[in-house]
Amino acid sequence: MTSEPVDHQHTAARVDELLSRMTPAEKAGQLTQYFYFKLPAGAQPDAALGIDPDAQPRAVEEALARGEAGSLLFVTDPAEINRLQRLAVEGNRLGIPALFGFDVIHGLRTIFPVPIAMAASWDPEIIERGQAVAAREARAVGIHWAFAPMVDVARDPRWGRIVEGAGEDPVLGAAVAAAQVRGFQSPGGIIAGPKHFGGYGAALGGRDYDEVHLSDEELWNVYFPPFQAAVEAGAGNVMTAYMDLNGVPASASHWLFTQVLRDTWGFDGFVVSDANAVRNLVTHGFAPDLTEAGARAVTAGVDMEMAMTDPAYAHLPDAVRDGTVPEEVLDQRVRRVLEAKARQGLLDDPYVDEERAREVLADPAHREAAREAARRSAVLLRNEGDLLPLDAGTLTSIAVLGPLADSRRDTIGPWVFDYDLDETVTVLDGIRAAAGDRVRVDYAQGVPVVSRTFPSLFDMFGGNTPSDPEGFDPEAELARAVEVAAAADVAVVVAGEWQNMIGEAASRSSIELPGRQLELIRAVVATGTPTVLLVMNGRPLDLRWPAEHVPAILDIWYPGSQGGAAVADLLFGTVSPAGKLPFTWPRTVGQIPMIYSHTRSHEPENQARRYWDEASTPLFPFGHGLSYGRFTYTDLTVDQPGVDLDGTVTVTAEVTNTGDREAADVVQLYLHQRHGTASRPVRELKGFQRVVVAPGESRRVTFTVGPQQRRYWHTYARDWALDPSTFDVWVGGDCTADLHGSFEVVAKS
Ligand code: NOJ
Repeated sequence: MTSEPVDHQHTAARVDELLSRMTPAEKAGQLTQYFYFKLPAGAQPDAALGIDPDAQPRAVEEALARGEAGSLLFVTDPAEINRLQRLAVEGNRLGIPALFGFDVIHGLRTIFPVPIAMAASWDPEIIERGQAVAAREARAVGIHWAFAPMVDVARDPRWGRIVEGAGEDPVLGAAVAAAQVRGFQSPGGIIAGPKHFGGYGAALGGRDYDEVHLSDEELWNVYFPPFQAAVEAGAGNVMTAYMDLNGVPASASHWLFTQVLRDTWGFDGFVVSDANAVRNLVTHGFAPDLTEAGARAVTAGVDMEMAMTDPAYAHLPDAVRDGTVPEEVLDQRVRRVLEAKARQGLLDDPYVDEERAREVLADPAHREAAREAARRSAVLLRNEGDLLPLDAGTLTSIAVLGPLADSRRDTIGPWVFDYDLDETVTVLDGIRAAAGDRVRVDYAQGVPVVSRTFPSLFDMFGGNTPSDPEGFDPEAELARAVEVAAAADVAVVVAGEWQNMIGEAASRSSIELPGRQLELIRAVVATGTPTVLLVMNGRPLDLRWPAEHVPAILDIWYPGSQGGAAVADLLFGTVSPAGKLPFTWPRTVGQIPMIYSHTRSHEPENQARRYWDEASTPLFPFGHGLSYGRFTYTDLTVDQPGVDLDGTVTVTAEVTNTGDREAADVVQLYLHQRHGTASRPVRELKGFQRVVVAPGESRRVTFTVGPQQRRYWHTYARDWALDPSTFDVWVGGDCTADLHGSFEVVAKS
């Protein structure tokens, strides 16, 4: 986590020495993290936050100086961090520095594609590299800890936070989670805080913060694996979740934070609550007052409370005094926090070098990594007649259309705060730069921007609410867009959701393209000009019409600071798209939730006709993504016909690029257990590998399938089960792969 090796004994001794001198109030202070809400002049905080923008930062500074705030969040300016740190170190009796946390979700200054996009790369290497860059920038400004990765499995795309995670699958989710933790915590990096433990992604109706009901079977088999992987990768922190899980607030669950996280997985970092989630125990109708809320959370295993104002943990000294919380419990929680500070080197050097911060933030290598990440995360959904890549040599004109095509703020996506719009490359910028002087590039917005019916939590941060240019005339503009499209050799329409329509508190009741964007797409296609649709999104959208009528569709997500440059690389074929969908793409909102790993039920032959009014198949399957290469999969071998329950088989298959361009492919292995003590999903992803294959080249890809891949949590046994059975395996380019093999697993005699 730090570049220096940590001397654990020495650290423990220092921590013990500090602890022995602390009062209960100072201990409670170390367990308290405050938002430091200094908004830009004129900005008003969201009313729901219930804070006074002048009084709040002042109160936090006072708490810091009294030694009653152990950590702050939401400061990114190194000079400001140093100033506040000085208040902590010089102001309080013991001089314990504060730990600074922040939502470093997909970059700090250099913005990478949104997390769902990074997951679509199915490429742990680029994911790790991306978070290492983010950590380097964050550490340079004085941030010690990221509230990331979000590793919540999301199977309901109405839930806005699907954009922050890795989609629907536990195996892909676990690989992505571990890669992010490795990246954040690489040498010189920061503490990673996987969140929100647990089950947050399954909010009822996809409505953010609403209750979650998940069986043990779903928790252990689907929702927990990414958390376990993050813990095994060494994550130093875990964050709680806001909602009730099976009737109990997750943030007060002893089962989650002590039995599962620590006792079962051996987690040895510290746990932080989500913002105000401990205070919320009163709101939930769970704790009668703040004292009991704090007592119950800290007893459950929540070490630190994140709060805006008036923290429940400020009442912990009372709980100690009246015997509800033994002082040793408090000491153990404080020890974990002080150890995290020691490991970040804070007890030795709490300040940050402001000059160096400027240099690190300007590092061009960071921009190059972001561009590479955006290239690897785009998913080519459709490419009829090989419209893509475009041939820059023969084109003379390109029409670029749609309000998102030239929106810097939307290009970088949600959950960013410290970005630099001046250096953000939009799709229009990228195409212009790549096309050069010879090709005419014309732009028309086409249709008006769209606002949310209810405002966003993030509107207070300025620049987050889109607007049309002055004097915008929708009808005249649409006519102009059609004219521009008709006059061009090719039309590129960028459509999707504005960035404030996705993310926290950004759930939706529909997945249609907002506003008149579909009308624009139809009008452009009607001109007869070959059309490429670029989708800017963080969730699947209803693309039924485009999927039939628009020849090329490339999902570019919110591609980040260098997004437009990467999109141009893909459009003109400098590189081939190789991303794959990390979720099942439904046709319409009524199909949600829809997953590929469902079980087999009555009349499986009618699986595609479960509704009478619409196919019950996805628009695009999980794992789908086309390429400029042409991949075929052949010669699947399983090294043994049968193994016993502990046995492992090796599965290999050959992937060949029969196309004429080098391209990467993500080869996927799916498993099915034919019978056993439970019915198992028709297919489950159990392995994947990204391989780069030259034209005409074949590569053999190897997977292992052992007990770890075959075991599953059994609801009634309340334990892991491993069944003797016949197992099917498929290898290919998405979850419908048809190259098949099988093997037997027999019970030991
Ligand atoms: C609330 C969000 O749920 C969480 O993910 C985030 O880290 C905190 N706010 C801090 O911004």
